[in-house]
Amino acid sequence: MEPDRYHQPVLADRIVELFAPVPGGPVIDATFGGGGHSRLLAAAGHEVIAFDRDPDVPQPAEGVTLVGRPFGEMAAALDELGVGEIGGAFFDLGVSSHQLDTAERGFSYRNNGPIDMRMDRSGALTAAEIVNEWSGADIADVIHRYSDERFARRIAEAIVRSRPIVDTATLADVVRDAIPAATRRTGGHPARRTFQALRIAVNDELGELERGLEAALDRLVVGGRCAVISYHSMEDRYTKRRFVEEATGCTCPPEQPVCTCERVATAKLVTRKPIRPGSDEVADNPRARSALLRVLERIAA
Ligand SMILES: C[S@@+](CC[C@H](N)C(=O)[O-])C[C@H]1O[C@@H](n2cnc3c(N)ncnc32)[C@H](O)[C@@H]1O
Repeated sequence: MEPDRYHQPVLADRIVELFAPVPGGPVIDATFGGGGHSRLLAAAGHEVIAFDRDPDVPQPAEGVTLVGRPFGEMAAALDELGVGEIGGAFFDLGVSSHQLDTAERGFSYRNNGPIDMRMDRSGALTAAEIVNEWSGADIADVIHRYSDERFARRIAEAIVRSRPIVDTATLADVVRDAIPAATRRTGGHPARRTFQALRIAVNDELGELERGLEAALDRLVVGGRCAVISYHSMEDRYTKRRFVEEATGCTCPPEQPVCTCERVATAKLVTRKPIRPGSDEVADNPRARSALLRVLERIAA
């Protein structure tokens, strides 16, 4: 399949532009997907090492080395490849259009399939296990924690009452019916947030982001850049907090009013406010709608 039909890269020109000034050393594309960003970065002259935990991705372009592992294992994988410092790291979080549109992967409330949602189908936990085997309280906790869903408890109770639920269309109906009718009409498909929360839990997406970002920031050469495109507020909040910590040197908890740690800034924020795709890009690629790009530059070791 053509890479751009597999997944249309978001903010593609901006990404190439933002990595243009980085000094030598490989640029890591932590989320290869259809390989669109990797291909553009390689064409711009970077040596690209890409990660994807889904074996069902297309072949990489020339100049791109593909590592079939979660980016949460980036530190170990780069050690094995003998890579120390890196010139850049790029994370384009979440799932690809191909994964969403392939019904049997079970990510979609629109295309009916088994309730799976694993990016890597060798993973032990599926969304079906959460939906059909976890307690109502644990399901409510996942939905509440990983989405801004106000009706997490009602949805979890409805799921437990409707077991067994075997396909995504039934799950989407159960979720929709659990949400008060007046609220269903706002904020897109009523099952969107619940599906997102289940996917985040199945793939431990926040744990992955923490580990991957840590490994990338740890290896960034002076002048190197790290860029993250998030598609929901929790990922963006985490990225922002982590980037601000690097840029201020402050690791005090956010609720502490006065900084009491040693402040040594080793990075600067290239973007103070996140960059969003313009209206033309969103019109052409509606999945770019919620993208938020943040970029950091290492200024001292
Ligand atoms: C939004 S798509 C990336 C699209 C890509 N930038 C492009 O231009 O085609 C996200 C991809 O990252 C992969 N992915 C998500 N989390 C991952 C993780 N923790 N480790 C490795 N790959 C991951 C998914 O399998 C998916 O293919």
